[in-house]
Amino acid sequence: MKYDLVIKNGTIVTAGQSYSADIGVIGEQIAVIDQNLHGRAEIDAQGKLVTPGAVDIHVHMEMPIGEIVSSDDFFTGTRAASYGGTTAIVDFVEPDPDESMLEALTNRRAIADPKVTIDYGLHMTIGPVEIDKLDQLPEVYEAGCPSFKLYMAYGFCLSDDELMVAMEAIRDVNGLPVIHTENWAVITALIDRSLSKGRVSPSWHPRCRPAVMEGEAAGRAIDIATLVGSRLHIFHITCEDVVDRLSAARGKGIPVTGETCPQYLFLTQDIYDRPSVEGALPVCSPPIRGKKSQEALWRALGQGNLQIVSTDHCPFTRAEKATGLGDFSKIPGGVPSIEMRFPALYSSGVVPERITPNQWVDICCTTPARIAGFDRKGDIAIGFDADIVIFDPDQRVVLSEETLHEEVDWTPYDGLMIQGWPQVTISRGEVIVEDGVFYGRAGRGQFVSRHF
Ligand code: URP
Ligand code: ZN
Ligand code: ZN
Repeated sequence: MKYDLVIKNGTIVTAGQSYSADIGVIGEQIAVIDQNLHGRAEIDAQGKLVTPGAVDIHVHMEMPIGEIVSSDDFFTGTRAASYGGTTAIVDFVEPDPDESMLEALTNRRAIADPKVTIDYGLHMTIGPVEIDKLDQLPEVYEAGCPSFKLYMAYGFCLSDDELMVAMEAIRDVNGLPVIHTENWAVITALIDRSLSKGRVSPSWHPRCRPAVMEGEAAGRAIDIATLVGSRLHIFHITCEDVVDRLSAARGKGIPVTGETCPQYLFLTQDIYDRPSVEGALPVCSPPIRGKKSQEALWRALGQGNLQIVSTDHCPFTRAEKATGLGDFSKIPGGVPSIEMRFPALYSSGVVPERITPNQWVDICCTTPARIAGFDRKGDIAIGFDADIVIFDPDQRVVLSEETLHEEVDWTPYDGLMIQGWPQVTISRGEVIVEDGVFYGRAGRGQFVSRHF
């Protein structure tokens, strides 16, 4: 039988094993994994690793914050993702107060569908206004949006009783709450105190969002989920205070998972002490912490005490970041990481043996897909989408605004040398990036109806 595409002679790396075989693709799916296959098109992957496309379940494209929106739109952001080997993302819907959740989902899809170059899903945000709309959750789940974003910070912040009823409603549709855990009351008090003393520079940002209170909030969220019998996924974990609570809960069989992000694995808190706008650029929440936290996160990944790495990709330009220079609490939060995540985890995870190659695939591809409910992504297996990366473990790339493709005029990883980079990115059987050339197109990506 002739296949549409055969990837030959590579070392297939999945979450479970590494082995030599060819992959035959028919149409958009993996049809066979065997030796000596032939196809109408063939790619020689000799000396390369062949992995599932990476899955990033926490990104913010063209996300509105006040008057501005994050600078990558669904086209530029997904194009940058594909350069870095990511073939599926999950972004967010934030309903307007007078919109139903389904209307908001339709409207967000109308923005994303014509632009995406890779497949995507959406988490539905439940803010205080949506607490009165919880009866809409069954139809939102049915529309392919089974994960619900809860905040313990910002204007979307839910009180503990609101968290409880939201998690109950999510549980009742067999959905997944995904949560931003910080203690908003303590943070706002510390910010007010800091500003009133004239402490307005970005170096005060991490001091007003202490790790111990991120841990407290995560523990509270886990306890509420446990009380109501809901599963839970904790976003952007920065510190041991959260990892310890997560591990303790998982040890008791509580169905909670956690992610960290590249900014917490590659940067340290002193970055906020840089002068002028340089200190404002890396402002994100929760904040980047010290070296000890960074090492604890790497250890937790290696020991399986943190399940995945997503990016929380949310770029703003230098000019937008500079608007908060007189008051760090006004700096739009978020950093770009969508392109470097998968290769950077190889370079600083696999190469120095902090994680194995199989853990790398598990952390970046397989477990994110399972957590988010993508049932045909995140693995190299027959019947799965042919989302595949041919990864050159020896290629070296120095990260900079020039080498990356994100639509933003800075990167927090400027000068970082990465060993290992995707040579080819394939999305549902179509080569969309090869040797640094983008062959995808806006709108070829599809909204994926997810479920559990
Ligand atoms: O500062 C951040 N992380 N911005 C993106 C929104 C969020 O909290 O995830
Ligand atoms: Zn968040
Ligand atoms: Zn986020």
